Amino acid sequence: MFTNPFSRQPGEVTPDFHNPDWLEHAIFYEIYPQSFYDTNGDGIGDIPGIIAKLPYIQSLGVNTIWLNPCFSSPFGDAGYDISDFYQVAPRYGTNDDLRRLFEEARRMGIRVLLDLVAGHTSTENEWFKQSARHKRNPYSDWYIWSNNIWTRTPPGSRHQFIAGMSERNGGYMPNFFPFQPALNYGFANPDPDYPWQQPVDAPGPQAVRAELKKIIKFWLDMGASGFRVDMAASLVKDDPGSRATIQLWREVRTWLDQDYPEAVLISEWGIPERAIRAGFHIDLYLGFPGSGYISLFRKHQWGGGFGPNRRGFSFFDREGLGNIAEFLDEYGPQYAATRQAGYICLFSGNHDTSPRLGSGRSREDLKVAFAFLLSMPGVPKIYYGDEIGMAGVPGLPSKEGGYNRTEVRTPMQWDTDANAGFSTAPGEKLYLPVEANSGDRVVSEQENDPGSLLNAIRQLVIIRKTHPALANHSAFQVVYARPGRYPFAYVREGGGERVLVVVNPSSQPADVEITHEQLPPAAGAVQTIWGVQNGLKPAPTGWKITLPGISAGMYKI
Ligand code: GLC
Ligand code: CA
Repeated sequence: MFTNPFSRQPGEVTPDFHNPDWLEHAIFYEIYPQSFYDTNGDGIGDIPGIIAKLPYIQSLGVNTIWLNPCFSSPFGDAGYDISDFYQVAPRYGTNDDLRRLFEEARRMGIRVLLDLVAGHTSTENEWFKQSARHKRNPYSDWYIWSNNIWTRTPPGSRHQFIAGMSERNGGYMPNFFPFQPALNYGFANPDPDYPWQQPVDAPGPQAVRAELKKIIKFWLDMGASGFRVDMAASLVKDDPGSRATIQLWREVRTWLDQDYPEAVLISEWGIPERAIRAGFHIDLYLGFPGSGYISLFRKHQWGGGFGPNRRGFSFFDREGLGNIAEFLDEYGPQYAATRQAGYICLFSGNHDTSPRLGSGRSREDLKVAFAFLLSMPGVPKIYYGDEIGMAGVPGLPSKEGGYNRTEVRTPMQWDTDANAGFSTAPGEKLYLPVEANSGDRVVSEQENDPGSLLNAIRQLVIIRKTHPALANHSAFQVVYARPGRYPFAYVREGGGERVLVVVNPSSQPADVEITHEQLPPAAGAVQTIWGVQNGLKPAPTGWKITLPGISAGMYKI
């Protein structure tokens, strides 16, 4: 049951770190490099392709790109298995191409963030190959190895080991897939009976920590503006409450603030209260703990492994049978605990969340979803292709460790030419097939249509940027949110301005009254700044909201 938890929380994170000013107006765009734009006809997107499309990215109004991993890799997990952290994968280009991307983007006012896979490497990484040798060497303690292949783990431990693959007499701990061995950041409370569990201050874990900073420094010096950190909570093992992992990241942030005060770190953590305390500027709100984020858009079909309540209706389904409280019950306390100190990133989707937001949703459904995503506090993020309502290609065989995620990783749809303008390669050579029957889910078709989703998103971005009440840190207060009811209404306030946002994803009209206690009277006339004209009107003791089915409105009051 939703109980307005938006007041000050006892566990509120104190703002210990200074956030760079540019974050206050940041809007992110995630690019999966494989599938964005191919310039050399090999069927795989590349860095020159991203450079070629910078004017398009700029036209969206977004000002920060997050690039999924683009480093040397055997691509068992789409590049999240890195064999050389200092080298761009040849299929994407060269380090110089990436440097050129940083420079050209910067000239257009766009920052580029890379993906930092901090928790593991590929088994093909030279560090791991050395670590797997019998003879002790400087890399022996860079990964977590048991000291004998038969006895690996204390009884009851949740860790698994992979054994029998190396000259070294021991098994290694994977961090994700078996070919992604965990880097050794130590154990929070090493078990003395298992001496291979090293403390965080042992030489191996300290060397790995130093290397992590070296990687960050290398790319920042080349022109990157920061990193999205993969599985950020996974570093120190057996770490109750993530205390030692939080400490580790705080150390990184302290160093960063000194040497690179404009750089940012975004965590894939999913618990903002912890991630922001750990020094991350932004946490990606994945709703790992329960159904919060999932309940907005992906409840009925979600096929992933986390959280209860995965079946049923999402709030942004036109059936009108979703429940906004499922989201707010989780998000509310996290927002309240971090609002002074950092940002939560609410996103349209990512390379892991299937299905795509556009799957099963009409253009009008999606406008309502984006009216919400682009008016909430924090740093919003659009996953490439979601701005044209791409639906993805369900049922594809797994590509590079994608499994159910493969369907959301298909090529960007640029125009109505062959391969949707993504590549000149023969269709069967593409990284993944393009959507068949994409209809108007194509950039060129939407460019000149004033009613397109693409143009609606551009308008929403402009509105966000030009209204201080909608800035990333401006206040957020729920005005109307009833379990199982529509619409959802909230106020954003800042810079001397107050904006009421109302979203009604249900196909039924929404007609509700709210009291002056919930929404105090306006000083002047109500002004519609987006969506349904005059959807908010004064009523005798408060306000009347009248919205048709599948609509949204933003009102300056
Ligand atoms: C993160 C990435 C995902 C990857 C995994 C292992 O969750 O987003 O794509 O497979 O980490 O690195
Ligand atoms: Ca290519």
